[in-house]
Amino acid sequence: MALDIFRIHRSPFLLSMWLICLFQGNFSLLSLSDSDGARFIKTFADVFENTAIRPVKNFTQPLEINLTIQLHAILGLDEKQEILTTYLWMEQRWFHDFLVWDPSDFSGKDLVALPKEKLWLPDVLILEMVDEDKSAETPYLYVHHTGLVIYGKPLRIVSSCNLNILYFPFDVQKCPLTVSSITFSDKDMKLHIKETSEEITSKSKKVFASKGEWELLQITASEKSVLEDWGSYDFISMEVTMKRRPMFYIVNILIPSAFLMLTDIVSFYLPAHSFDRASFKMTLMLGYSVFLIIVKDLLPSNSSHTPLIAIFFLVSLTFMVSSLFETIIIINIIHQNAKQRKPIPAWMRTIVLNYGAKLFWRRGKPPVYHQISRVPLATKITVQDCEMRSSLSEEIDALQALLNRIAEGVEEIKQGLERHDQERELEDEWLQIGHILDCVLHSVYCIFFTAFLLTLAVTWLM
Ligand SMILES: *[C@@H]1O[C@H](CO)[C@@H](O)[C@H](O)[C@H]1NC(C)=O
Ligand SMILES: *[C@@H]1O[C@H](CO)[C@@H](O)[C@H](O)[C@H]1NC(C)=O
Repeated sequence: MALDIFRIHRSPFLLSMWLICLFQGNFSLLSLSDSDGARFIKTFADVFENTAIRPVKNFTQPLEINLTIQLHAILGLDEKQEILTTYLWMEQRWFHDFLVWDPSDFSGKDLVALPKEKLWLPDVLILEMVDEDKSAETPYLYVHHTGLVIYGKPLRIVSSCNLNILYFPFDVQKCPLTVSSITFSDKDMKLHIKETSEEITSKSKKVFASKGEWELLQITASEKSVLEDWGSYDFISMEVTMKRRPMFYIVNILIPSAFLMLTDIVSFYLPAHSFDRASFKMTLMLGYSVFLIIVKDLLPSNSSHTPLIAIFFLVSLTFMVSSLFETIIIINIIHQNAKQRKPIPAWMRTIVLNYGAKLFWRRGKPPVYHQISRVPLATKITVQDCEMRSSLSEEIDALQALLNRIAEGVEEIKQGLERHDQERELEDEWLQIGHILDCVLHSVYCIFFTAFLLTLAVTWLM
């Protein structure tokens, strides 16, 4: 507009101004409406208005779309809700039959970026999506002069995925991603994946950004077609295989749990009679319970699947509880029975003190503390000398009575000591029984625990 004004009023002053403008550059000579861009828009105005129509010359022919896909990141896997969040790049290419030009008509321009609202777009989506795509909007797409449309966009996909968490945290997950058109059957649109599974995998590994919990193992892609009511539909069926990096869980869950369990096994070597083993085990169990409460949030348990590691924790807790029960029983045997001086039942004496002792190389008989000779004291002291008897008879009688009383006293002390000895012997025997039972139960505990570990290992390997 301004240039037109200059052209009309060619007064000398304005002319000089115009010349100054001219020397500053010839940009001002061009108007937007004269540019190649505007001409381009004008040329294809028809195309840009009819975005509703599939861009094919023969309306009965399907439009072929070539897809490429790259996985950029695995953002997370929610095991409780079975939801996988991935970030991928999808590029679609198709031929627009009406958007073909000769580059020489537009100063040799052969690739033009256009706002994507100006063109017909395929409605290709991931079928497993359970949430809207929150990735950045891409406002443009490229068009080549041959009519090739190149439409790339990032996708943040929140998809449902059936998980197998049995081997957590050493699990490998396979999640499907199915690309398909929502509306168009293969009479209108055909989908092709342009790259092989190996190419997709290697390209994705190259751009894979996240060094988080998941490691990308493989992506497979294949074309499928499903027959529906009004024609068959093309699918690109992909499967993302990924492996969990277990280090975090080994350090934070497995090793502490193994240490607690080991402490429980070793605590059997605390003597049950002199040390309060029960309260030690109680404390240990309390510690383990707190540990389980903390770990609960890290475990992917949901109600339908339980990982082996959760079973391991549960069984470990069971073992701890049973070892506490065992300790209580042993302490009861040692303390209560011994203190109340209950006689040892004959069967227990035979089984435990004979067979059990032999099994664990223990002494069958308790040591005896006071060996008092059972030779009786001379019963009565008599004085035979008759001469002395007559003179000293009274003193001697008194002395004899005294001696007899002393002898009776000594006899009483001896009986008391013997009784005490018997009691200690009984106590010792109960102690022995307690120890041997403790050994037996500890062995049973160890055998069961080993069997449990073996079962776990076998389940793992199968
Ligand atoms: C469109 O394609 C079909 C099948 O190839 C053919 O029979 C028909 O003649 C074509 N129509 C036009 C207008 O080219
Ligand atoms: C799609 O791929 C096929 C086979 O590789 C090829 O012939 C065709 O030209 C491609 N189409 C587009 C739009 O790239």
